[in-house]
Amino acid sequence: MIKIKPYYHQIGKEVEVFEHSYKNKIPFLLKGPTGTGKSRFIEHMAYQLGKNLITIACHEETSSTDLIGRYIIKGAETIWLDGPLTTAVKEGAIIYLDEIAEARPDVIVSIHSLTDHRRELFIDKLGINIKAHEDFMLVASFNPGYQRGFKELKPSTRQRFVAMSFDYPEAKIEEEILINETQVDHNTAKKLVTIAAKIRNLTELGLTETVSTRLLVDAAKLIYSGLPKRLSVKVAIVEPLTDDAEIIEALTDLCNLMI
Ligand SMILES: Nc1ncnc2c1ncn2[C@@H]1O[C@H](COP(=O)(O)OP(=O)(O)OP(=O)(O)O)[C@@H](O)[C@H]1O
Ligand SMILES: [Mg+2]
Repeated sequence: MIKIKPYYHQIGKEVEVFEHSYKNKIPFLLKGPTGTGKSRFIEHMAYQLGKNLITIACHEETSSTDLIGRYIIKGAETIWLDGPLTTAVKEGAIIYLDEIAEARPDVIVSIHSLTDHRRELFIDKLGINIKAHEDFMLVASFNPGYQRGFKELKPSTRQRFVAMSFDYPEAKIEEEILINETQVDHNTAKKLVTIAAKIRNLTELGLTETVSTRLLVDAAKLIYSGLPKRLSVKVAIVEPLTDDAEIIEALTDLCNLMI
């Protein structure tokens, strides 16, 4: 259970949509680039609903066994150990499959019966089906922008979810987020948000992903803790974006003019 209320600034109608999805137990898909508050939003909603949140960061090696469970050898015995998905299904927790498209195909197969009217999980190693607890809900995130790999979600998977796109908030809200997250002064927050807007508009740089709210929060934290502003912006915003020396130089010059 999440003990301290996670700070989340609503961007659109996502809170309302999530509440209704939860009430109807329709799986929820969050789409959007890195650092746009997807994880923070789910933590916030789990807290508001008083539900346990189990997060799984999916990667190429994530298999259904990792989620469902496995036999382990303990002394002379083999015992069954529930995986996080099985635990969530039994307890009625919210499970958050972060970057679901990265996981192995058997993961997708295993959630299909859970995300339609059946709401049941088949544990092949035990040969049983378990019915999901009535509070159980599945949430997943997916970053459609990634160029690397060709990982897409099949329509038969996507169409099991209510889906919402997350993006960078408008300037006023982003300033508020920076101030709330870091206690940086209003003037600096405003400048950081202006820098972000400028870089986000430079589509010709060909960056895979541009400045996220997360990077701005990091820059604001460094500034608030006393690191010089220009250095903070360089190490927290410019350097994480690219390794191209020319682009780094150009962006550093641009930022130096703005802060
Ligand atoms: N709407 C928001 N309200 C409050 N904080 C936010 C919001 N959006 C972004 N943030 C800040 O940005 C940081 C990054 O957000 P978060 O970790 O939720 O991103 P994400 O979308 O899950 O990214 P990733 O796809 O990389 O997992 C948070 O730690 C928080 O400081
Ligand atoms: Mg996240």
